[in-house]
Amino acid sequence: MEEKLYRAALEARQNAYVPYSHFAVGAALLTAEGEIFTGCNVENASYGLSMCAERNAIFAAVSKGHREIKALCVVADTKEPVAPCGACRQVMGEFAIPLIILGNCQGKTKNYTWHELLPEAFAAEVLSK
Ligand code: THU
Repeated sequence: MEEKLYRAALEARQNAYVPYSHFAVGAALLTAEGEIFTGCNVENASYGLSMCAERNAIFAAVSKGHREIKALCVVADTKEPVAPCGACRQVMGEFAIPLIILGNCQGKTKNYTWHELLPEAFAAEVLSK
């Protein structure tokens, strides 16, 4: 399963629209129902409107009704497995993704839980006080 997600993320990375940073990222996730959703980063001339690969993959899955995400893989052309940005870590935490596979294009990967990537997270519990 991890290998399949890695390959799907690498393939999704090919679609990255990155005319400004030239930093292409791909992501792929597996839902509880067994479906795979992918995403790539999509940039904009108004830089702040750019969207990361991981969030595009997560939003695509949730938009189709999938809220239980079993695993998510993120890949970029980095020396070490790519480190997701803080915003993406927060979104991974929203759906409490139990397995996050970070990788580079050479096949080096490292596994984490969302909590390892975002300890002391701001979470929904505090809103119900
Ligand atoms: N990027 C991602 O897609 N995911 C991350 O977690 C890190 C950053 C994208 C955003 C932007 O298009 C490019 O990488 C450079 O920051």
